[in-house]
Amino acid sequence: MPTTPRIPARQRAQITAADLSVTRGTTQVLTGVDLTLTPASRIAIIGENGRGKSTLLHALAGSLTPTSGTVRRIGTVALAEQEMSAPPGCTVGDAVAEAIADPLAALAELDTAAAQLAAGSEEANASYATALEHVEAHDAWNAERRVQIALAALGAEQDLTRELAALSVGRRYRVRLACVLGADDDFLLLDEPTNHLDRNGLDFLTAHLHERRGGVVLVSHDRALLADLAETIVDLDPTPDGRPRISGGGYAGYREGRAAAQARWEQAYERQQAEHTRLQDSLSAAQNRLVSGWRPEKGTNKHGRATRAGGLVQSVHRRQEELEAHTISLPEPPLNFSFPELPARAGVELVSLDEVTVAGRLSIPVSLALTSGDRLLVTGPNGAGKTTLLQLLDGALTPSSGTIRAARTARVGSLPQESALPADRRASEVFATHVEVLIARGVLDPASAVGLASLGLLRSRDAGKRIGDLSMGQQRRLSLALVLASRPHALLLDEPSNHLSIALVDELTEALQATPAAVVVSSHDRQLLRDTATWPRLTLAAP
Ligand SMILES: Nc1ncnc2c1ncn2[C@@H]1O[C@H](COP(=O)(O)OP(=O)(O)OP(=O)(O)O)[C@@H](O)[C@H]1O
Ligand SMILES: [Mg+2]
Repeated sequence: MPTTPRIPARQRAQITAADLSVTRGTTQVLTGVDLTLTPASRIAIIGENGRGKSTLLHALAGSLTPTSGTVRRIGTVALAEQEMSAPPGCTVGDAVAEAIADPLAALAELDTAAAQLAAGSEEANASYATALEHVEAHDAWNAERRVQIALAALGAEQDLTRELAALSVGRRYRVRLACVLGADDDFLLLDEPTNHLDRNGLDFLTAHLHERRGGVVLVSHDRALLADLAETIVDLDPTPDGRPRISGGGYAGYREGRAAAQARWEQAYERQQAEHTRLQDSLSAAQNRLVSGWRPEKGTNKHGRATRAGGLVQSVHRRQEELEAHTISLPEPPLNFSFPELPARAGVELVSLDEVTVAGRLSIPVSLALTSGDRLLVTGPNGAGKTTLLQLLDGALTPSSGTIRAARTARVGSLPQESALPADRRASEVFATHVEVLIARGVLDPASAVGLASLGLLRSRDAGKRIGDLSMGQQRRLSLALVLASRPHALLLDEPSNHLSIALVDELTEALQATPAAVVVSSHDRQLLRDTATWPRLTLAAP
């Protein structure tokens, strides 16, 4: 328990970031961010994977020191990280106690003061009044109940004795999310909170964020949540001046404004390019004149040539200077995802399940068959067995009853909900080794191997980084690249929108509509569900 409990500042709460810049490794991640948070703030941070969204949240929370600039905080802050570790031995109860440590400390302070008052201590009056103020500021009497309500509403583990490390990633995340929602700090900073929530969880989270009295900063790719909640949008994608684009007017207003700004920027860029080309041509022409000016022609006056040459040299220099002074200010264009050609096997049943169940994970028998070109959307609440079903299809799990048949030469590629990649190896090495192994095993014909760069999922400078130094979304992009590298006949995607940027999810959805491969997607993402509304659905029932 902390010795000095943090006391919420409520209406006075404020976080002010001024001219914030952060460099990670050799990358300048954030430049000149100015942002003010108040209890009324409903701010969303968006941008491509690896732009610095998580970095900005950590800088606001104080868990990362900016390279320059300042962050001033009045009040208390809770941050729900994108990925959460679980120290060995730590239980659900420990996580709850840690999250509401301050309100619990305030209650203990009040008990002590009350006991002193009862014992007739004169000074206890003042300390009782202070303790009561702290308890009220935290609404400490309700703290435990608030967490319990959130645990139940999010479908999180409610058995306080369970070890966090023994829970699935999603269940663990929901415990942490319930803890921060229940803790009632002045500011709530959430990093991709919807990744592990089902429909009920999403509804609870949305209602909670609307109603809470403190400020909210949200990093999310969930377009439905952004449209519903965000008032201010901080877009970390490149801008002409390198500073983030901050706009009011909600997500819809932001999209309009962005389209207009993008058009202006593109026109300015075209003018800049044209000017650059003109200067370059002018330099080349001057250089050519210089060369031909020096070439002695029979009967030419040598003295005249030399005089002219001096002028030409000056003219070349002047043009060179002009060209160098003319900078191109447009930043690197965004990556374009290029979905590879996947193969089709006409008339062949790639995989089929017949009355399959898995004890404790998928209790109602499932039968289905996949052939090339099939689409299937698997939905259902948390714990219904969606991941289990995908694992059965890719052969990673043996059923308790029923049978699975897979065509001998059919390749099944599966993007798991979370993948464990080796943190110390470089993304490009892992990809290259993966492709070599596929070729050596005869799974992939060398002629159909794709290169990492050609997929447009990772920039080459990121592909050269240690995986542990990549952002969560960049790691997930690598996982997707690994799956696509095998050119699967059947593609299984478990919550594909998790951690991926909005632009990539749009591109991926479009590619999935068109591929000749069989595609199975499990998702809670409301926009993704709308975009695949015509696909056959398999809705699994709650356990
Ligand atoms: N520990 C680290 N060391 C060096 N560079 C890092 C480290 N962590 C992140 N980076 C780099 O900092 C940049 C920003 O990372 P950050 O995690 O803030 O991005 P993000 O916008 O949250 O991405 P995502 O959408 O994938 O979650 C990325 O280019 C990443 O490669
Ligand atoms: Mg992030």
